[in-house]
Amino acid sequence: MSPPPACLNFRAIDVIRKKRDGSELSRSEIESLVNAYTRGDIPDYQVSAWLMAVVLRGMTRAETAALTDAMLRSGEQLDLSSLPAKKVDKHSTGGVGDKTSLVLAPLAAAAGVAVPMISGRGLGHTGGTLDKLEAIPGFNVNLSAGQFRSVLETCGCAMIGQTAEIAPADRKLYALRDVTGTVESPYLICASIMSKKLAEGIDALVLDVKTGSGAFMKHEKDAAFLAELMVETGERMGKKVVALITDMDQPLGNKIGNALEVIEAVEVLHGEGPQDLRELCLELAGWMLYLGEAADSVNAGKNRGQELIASGRALQKFRQMVELQGGEPGVVDHPDRLPRAPDLTTTASTKSGFVTSVQCERVGTACVILGGGRERKEDSVDPAVGIVLHKKVGDSVAAGEPLATIHYNHETRAARAKQLLEASYTISDSPPPERRPLIHGVIGNSGEKN
Ligand code: URA
Repeated sequence: MSPPPACLNFRAIDVIRKKRDGSELSRSEIESLVNAYTRGDIPDYQVSAWLMAVVLRGMTRAETAALTDAMLRSGEQLDLSSLPAKKVDKHSTGGVGDKTSLVLAPLAAAAGVAVPMISGRGLGHTGGTLDKLEAIPGFNVNLSAGQFRSVLETCGCAMIGQTAEIAPADRKLYALRDVTGTVESPYLICASIMSKKLAEGIDALVLDVKTGSGAFMKHEKDAAFLAELMVETGERMGKKVVALITDMDQPLGNKIGNALEVIEAVEVLHGEGPQDLRELCLELAGWMLYLGEAADSVNAGKNRGQELIASGRALQKFRQMVELQGGEPGVVDHPDRLPRAPDLTTTASTKSGFVTSVQCERVGTACVILGGGRERKEDSVDPAVGIVLHKKVGDSVAAGEPLATIHYNHETRAARAKQLLEASYTISDSPPPERRPLIHGVIGNSGEKN
């Protein structure tokens, strides 16, 4: 679709001043700014000034919807209307050890919901689905639109990276935000995420908005604000959207690092794996199946998800998707075929007691330092390295007992990561007074029946 026409008399300076002074911009002013910037007609310095004005002044719901819409229409939108199944995706705002996408895409597909998933790479201390998938030898995340459609038609799910054609305005704006201190605006985050997700041609979206020490939104009230904004923006565009606010105050599951996370996702698809990861996957699956009309209620969706894991059908879907995208399907039954780091070292507790916190951003940063993420944009990611946690919040620990094992390729990186990991754990004499819930809340119920 061609971008909407720019408003006649548009001058970037007027739009910057208007936002600076706290007035509401019109839809056509926002469209004109986004289109002119995407075409290269206005310079970075003017858009940087405008972005900072948005960070400081905020946006109304109408402005946020207009920005999302203009970014969405800056590129192509997939037309998947020929697929009979409902199209549903899940998006997480980013965390540490969050490998739910790897479980959910095949699980929902096994239930008859189509999952056209366009994912991202690791950002800061958080992991990215594309980096995890690329740990599978041969797995291709760069399918053409035609190949993407064909995998989706054949197996019901496909997982790729953002193409140059999808939301090009977001690509340019995101790169500018990254270097101008303007990432942390709920309005800009909402427009960035929703423009890409709505371009996938989906009917419904389940958002996993993380909160806690490993999330971008550290405080629950900020996560809830972003969740509400994204739900309302999606609904204004005619989509069913629900947001779960979930805990990221400690890593999800026990394994952090690309190949290690593939192993843990496969464990869940085998009906095993850590309890918190299994629980969150089933909760999100319940919502995906319910919004995708493959279940009459969220609970029915959870039960169906459990059956599809127990019968091996979800695992079979994963195997099929891996094979269709050029990956080695044998990793599903032989995880030793995934890249493995040559060296291991453990970090042990210096005292006996109870784990009362695991500072999640530090654990994510330790994984980045090992090479599991990028310290600079141009870095390549090492799929083999990572961390396996043996103790999490609430666990008792004896002096000298291992807290975590580090899988590494470079001694100096391992030493830095070990220091950070040790500083992540708090061991106290008594257990934490209360456990944080895994699910903090649900926003936008899209007519939910439990
Ligand atoms: N992820 C995105 O895609 N965009 C943002 O602005 C933040 C996180």
